[in-house]
Amino acid sequence: MKPRDIAALLLPSTKKNPAKEKGIAYAPSNIALAKYWGKRNTVLNLPVTSSMSISLGNKGTSTTVSISPLERDMFFLNTKEIIEQNNFSQRLSHYLDIFRPHPHFYFKIETINTIPIAAGLASSASGFAALILALNDFFEWELDNKALSILARLGSGSAARSLWNGFVLWNAGTSEEGMDSFAEPLPYTWPKLRVGLLIVSSVEKPLSSREAMQRCQETSPFYKMWPTHVAHTIDSLKQALTQKDIHLLGLSAEQNALAMHSTMFTSHPAFSYWQTDTLTAMQKVWSLRQQKAPLYFTEDAGPNLKLLFTEEITSQVRDEFPSVEIIRPF
Ligand code: PMV
Repeated sequence: MKPRDIAALLLPSTKKNPAKEKGIAYAPSNIALAKYWGKRNTVLNLPVTSSMSISLGNKGTSTTVSISPLERDMFFLNTKEIIEQNNFSQRLSHYLDIFRPHPHFYFKIETINTIPIAAGLASSASGFAALILALNDFFEWELDNKALSILARLGSGSAARSLWNGFVLWNAGTSEEGMDSFAEPLPYTWPKLRVGLLIVSSVEKPLSSREAMQRCQETSPFYKMWPTHVAHTIDSLKQALTQKDIHLLGLSAEQNALAMHSTMFTSHPAFSYWQTDTLTAMQKVWSLRQQKAPLYFTEDAGPNLKLLFTEEITSQVRDEFPSVEIIRPF
């Protein structure tokens, strides 16, 4: 099955044309505490394992969809038009192909990110989630969250989790066409939880997350341990959320991130997103923990860390990491 076949199963056949002048939506960015790393289907972005995330509240993407006045798609990122064809515009046009009412229908997409771009944060997650929500508004499809999550996943796997605030679980599912592979919000809140964005470097990524996870899956001998490890992480995270246990939450998320990065060190050819300053920051977190600070980190396919802690140590975190941007997910 192709993405367009999936869309045909989910979209109302009576609503093929835009119903209003503009479709508008916002979606938060999200940080995985149990990572999505490896696909069982690369065309439909079907994951090997389930994953779990925390959304970043008002750090995310706002998107407006309308009809392009030109014979091509138009893209604006933070009010600046992306004229040349680059990865960003090609990936979006390719995704929009799924939804064009006819081949000569072109979209104008205006996107505003409130996430610091240099943070290498999952802007594709909030980007594709905001885009599908804005398309849903534009065409008045009135899709439910399950269908929206499936369609967001076709743009970027982690986008399946960006439709909600708070903690979200993306169930891997087992079906071939992925109709059971969608995310759902989890019924836990944690108003004292904090996520600190620590930008240690804005150096270009050596590899896209798509290429990276594929290489790890195909060549790292550690990858065979990954599915069991993630299942264990998700169980521990659920227990941590029930008990509001920051040690268990932090340790589970940190170990999961380090296990993911270990599949990169052991892949062939080996690679790493870490910069010298990434390791320096990790060692600082570990040393503060030895001094009893309940501070943990997670890291995605980039050199920057996301610190995990609770309100009580906010001022200590600010003192130790003056450049940190602190987010309140709830
Ligand atoms: O959704 P993608 O293709 O950008 O992959 C995301 C991969 C990680 O950010 C490393 C993990 C995750 O679960 O978000």
